[in-house]
Amino acid sequence: EKGGFDSFMEKEIHDQPDAVGQTLLGRSDVDGNLILDELRIDETILRSVDKIVVLACGTSAYAGQVAKYAIEHWCRIPTEVELSHEFRYRDPIVNEKTLVVAISQSGETMDTLMAVRYAREQGAKVVAICNTNGSTIPRESDAVLYTHAGPEIAVASTKAFLAQITAAYLLGLYLAQLRGNKYRDEIADVLADLSTIPAKIQAVLDDADKIKQLGADMANAKSVLFLGRHVGFPVAMEGALKLKELAYIHAEGFAAGELKHGPIALIEEGQPVVVVMPSPSARDSLHAKVVSNVQEIRARGAVTIVIAEAGDTTVEAYSEHVFYVPETPTLLAPLLTTVPLQIFALALASAKGYDVDQPRNLAKSVTVE
Ligand code: M6R
Repeated sequence: EKGGFDSFMEKEIHDQPDAVGQTLLGRSDVDGNLILDELRIDETILRSVDKIVVLACGTSAYAGQVAKYAIEHWCRIPTEVELSHEFRYRDPIVNEKTLVVAISQSGETMDTLMAVRYAREQGAKVVAICNTNGSTIPRESDAVLYTHAGPEIAVASTKAFLAQITAAYLLGLYLAQLRGNKYRDEIADVLADLSTIPAKIQAVLDDADKIKQLGADMANAKSVLFLGRHVGFPVAMEGALKLKELAYIHAEGFAAGELKHGPIALIEEGQPVVVVMPSPSARDSLHAKVVSNVQEIRARGAVTIVIAEAGDTTVEAYSEHVFYVPETPTLLAPLLTTVPLQIFALALASAKGYDVDQPRNLAKSVTVE
């Protein structure tokens, strides 16, 4: 049942081309129009939405943070992402014009379920993005967009994360289509780019030996920092969460721009720092800014492990270790850059001899608040 792999987690990492492919399947036509029949919410309501609130916990919340960049860009609807367990305790502004997107792999996370109930009481419509058919959160929502990642057994979420990002992107594109704004024209292009993602993930998986080895070599690390910017920021936090969960070491994700506002004080000789490098084609010279972050931390002794876009050889001069992922538009990059971080955490935890499928103290579904 582990498909020849040593763990469910490893199998699920390798399921990811399929998880994304299946989630895209049958949801658009040949002309690049989205068809989301399952979204049974009145179109006039969807057109009048003036705010989106994404509610989720853990990895699912990071998927929401990635989606925010894309949804705001395509739909021009203000989008907030909030941890489900914080949401209803702060008198949030939520009403009939709010669309809540509840993201949950299991569909049973109590924190998210309670937040969904609260949002609906305030009149909001709720769309669930969920991987588990017929689970509680979809049943209590107004509509559900299922991720078709297949059952996820390992406690650490991997393929569900990529499928959640994919589904949230489809939702964002659908809203853009419905609302007919100026980004409408981009939809067909983005769908075409999305359709190339499964093969690109496969290429990352086929090229994973080096990052696996590095993970194993770093089994004695006491702490690993992760830096990213734009969509790379939630990816950095997700990479750090994987390492905490699986390898039980201190790991933290930062926005690279925040470095000089505090975290750089943590850098000392030998500190490993994983950097999710923006594409050289990213807007607003983000790439150059992160390269200069890498130079700053290296000058203070950091060992840098850089995830970069293929062809971006400029980073080699500034990094101890570079891993390339195929070229892709910035908004889709998390579907690729996350994968080496998952493999890194898996390899590091395996080298320590830990049970990667059942890490200590954790449950697959958190059904208590
Ligand atoms: O089933 P859910 O997506 O609602 O679960 C949310 C979190 O509990 C979950 O993502 C958790 O953070 C994972 N163990 C992360 O790997």
